[in-house]
Amino acid sequence: MTQNACNCAPEAKRVDLSLLEPVLAQYAEDDGALIPVLQHAQGLYGYLPLDVLREIAEKRSTPFSEVYGVATFYTQFHLMPRGKTVVRICQGTACHVAGAPAVTRAITDELDVSLGETSADLNFTVEAVACVGCCGLAPVVVIDEKVHGQVDAGGARKLARVLRAEASR
Ligand code: FES
Repeated sequence: MTQNACNCAPEAKRVDLSLLEPVLAQYAEDDGALIPVLQHAQGLYGYLPLDVLREIAEKRSTPFSEVYGVATFYTQFHLMPRGKTVVRICQGTACHVAGAPAVTRAITDELDVSLGETSADLNFTVEAVACVGCCGLAPVVVIDEKVHGQVDAGGARKLARVLRAEASR
């Protein structure tokens, strides 16, 4: 089987660990810089593949359990690939009461991706988030960094259709 014909999960695909070298060199003398190293690594790969965590652990002489523990503790780090567009649906109390469940169903249905998952084509990640701090606009959907307020199920479908159309261009 050639590498291009591989249908294996993204995690199982090879990552170019040489990209990490400048980052590891930059922080080589700084024992307390694990978080910046992980941030840079995620910037390079879009997420933190296990091979990258292993490489960081080995090259920094840090136990893998510590690197993995930090990478899984902070919500800013992702161990699986993320979609090009990240849709966050607020599930806080105000949004829940105002219709977040229907909004969630509409978006996951239109984008054909389950809550908490990334679409197979890596176009979309749909996440549930706690209160994003603008309850007066409930229900709230945040697409990448843009906040959409007072989104009902119909509006959510329209937003999702626009995203789908943009992704197919
Ligand atoms: S509960 Fe959704 S913004 Fe506060």
